[in-house]
This record gives sequence, structure tokens and C-alpha cells, in this order.
Amino acid sequence: MAVILCGGEKGGTGKSTTSVNLAVMASLVGRNVALLDCDKQGTSRNFIDRRRDKGTLPTPDCYQISGKHVYKEIASLSERYDDVIIDAGGQDSVELRSSMVAPELTLMISPVQASAFDLETLIKMDELVETSQVYNPELLCKVLITRASTHVKIKKTDDAIAFVNELENIKRCDSVICERVAYQYASNNADAVVEYEKNHYSAMPPYKKKSYTPKASIEMCSLFKEALGIEFNLNEFIDLETSIKEVV
Ligand SMILES: Nc1ncnc2c1ncn2[C@@H]1O[C@H](COP(=O)(O)OP(=O)(O)OP(=O)(O)O)[C@@H](O)[C@H]1O
Ligand SMILES: [Mg+2]
Repeated sequence: MAVILCGGEKGGTGKSTTSVNLAVMASLVGRNVALLDCDKQGTSRNFIDRRRDKGTLPTPDCYQISGKHVYKEIASLSERYDDVIIDAGGQDSVELRSSMVAPELTLMISPVQASAFDLETLIKMDELVETSQVYNPELLCKVLITRASTHVKIKKTDDAIAFVNELENIKRCDSVICERVAYQYASNNADAVVEYEKNHYSAMPPYKKKSYTPKASIEMCSLFKEALGIEFNLNEFIDLETSIKEVV
């Protein structure tokens, strides 16, 4: 079972994107999944509503809750579902603090962009993790570098990794998520990025298919494996002509 909290202090870093992708992918591999949206913006909730309206299957169950009793909801959902994914929003809120003390959590993912403005917020987050560990000693928080540049010459990601490695209470996800329009197109369609790239691939003319690499899906599958410990078989899902095992 995986109980994964996506939360942090910085807005717009990809918490909802990460939450909905992990939740849909877990559903696609046959898990019974609950997505818990604790952010008043309701981004994850809206995504699920749009997906349900479109009739896309599978659609994870979604709950929305606010206030200090989020940890109780996590306990209750953990008993009824294989996996629970929590989107706690982008600020130091009562919902975030309440989620962080839930003993059922298997991982907290804190997405940040590789920029000083984002990285600075990790110093406070590191302290918050330390405080939460007083109540929840098993709390494991990992920073996920998101929206990273795909430009090889840009070294910002390396600097961000070095910054995170200095933190005392927060670890780092091995997976890195890059800035790719596929994430936005997928969310607009209420799809996970693996679904978006699968549809994109099947609509391609044969000559284009030969050189296509579903890059966003590859990195999201890597995160999925790291966070839930489950393999998502992308070759089989997209039915690619060329195996991408080597790339993964
Ligand atoms: N890897 C990515 N590449 C490109 N665009 C992205 C990526 N991740 C997220 N986005 C886009 O950035 C915007 C913010 O993403 P998202 O809503 O997931 O962030 P958030 O951390 O949940 O924000 P908030 O703090 O407001 O809850 C959205 O428009 C989303 O489509
Ligand atoms: Mg959000």
C-alpha cells in the first residue's frame, strides 16, 4: 500500500500534476485508489470531475476535505483503498500540517522548481519536517525537482540537487520531471500524461512513430516506480514499435 502526500510551500510547482498522474496510473495498473484533495483551489478534484464527465476509465475516487482533521480522513481512506494520494496544496496550511502527522504516510513528495525562489522555501520545509517527525517519526519527505529545463547546457538542476543534498531532514527523489507541454495538454484533457502520449502516438503517421519517445511518460513512470514501488509497463501500455526499455 502507498499513502503519498504531495505538498510544499511553493505554488505552481506541480503538486496537483504529480497527484493526479500518480493516482490515475495506479488506477490503470488495477489498484483501488483514493485521491484526497485538501487544497481549497480544488485542482485535483476538478481534474477528476472533468475526467468523470468525459467518461474516461478508470477514474480514481476523489474526496475533498479541509481543516485540522485531514489526518483522520487519511486513516479512514487507508483502510478502504489500496493506495491514497493526497494533494495538500501550495502553502504551509493546517491541512498540510495535519497530513504530515498521519502515521499511514509512506512518502511525502515536495515538488520544487530548480530556482532560488523555490529552493529557499525548502529551508522552512526542512524545519517543518523535523517538527512533524516529533509526532510522526516515520515521516519520509523527498523533494521532487520538477519543470526542469530539457536544455542540456542548463546546469540549474545540478545546483538544485546540491542544495537539496545539504538539507538535514529532507531527501531527494531520483526521478526528475522536466518542463514539457505534454503535462499541460494531458491535464487539459483530464488525462494522465501516459494516456495523452499513448493517444498522441496512435494518431501519428508511421514515419513519425519510428523516432517517437514518450519522454514525459518515461519520467512519470520512473517517479511512479520510486513512489509506489510498482512497475508501470509503458511498452505494453503505449504499444510502441521500438522498445523503450533501454531509455527507461
Ligand atoms: N512538468 C511540467 N511541465 C510543464 N508544465 C507543467 C509541469 N508541471 C506542471 N505544469 C503546469 O504548471 C501549472 C501548475 O501546475 P500544478 O497545478 O500541478 O501546480 P501546483 O503545485 O499544484 O500549484 P498550486 O500550488 O497552485 O496548487 C499548470 O498549468 C500545469 O499544467
Ligand atoms: Mg495544486
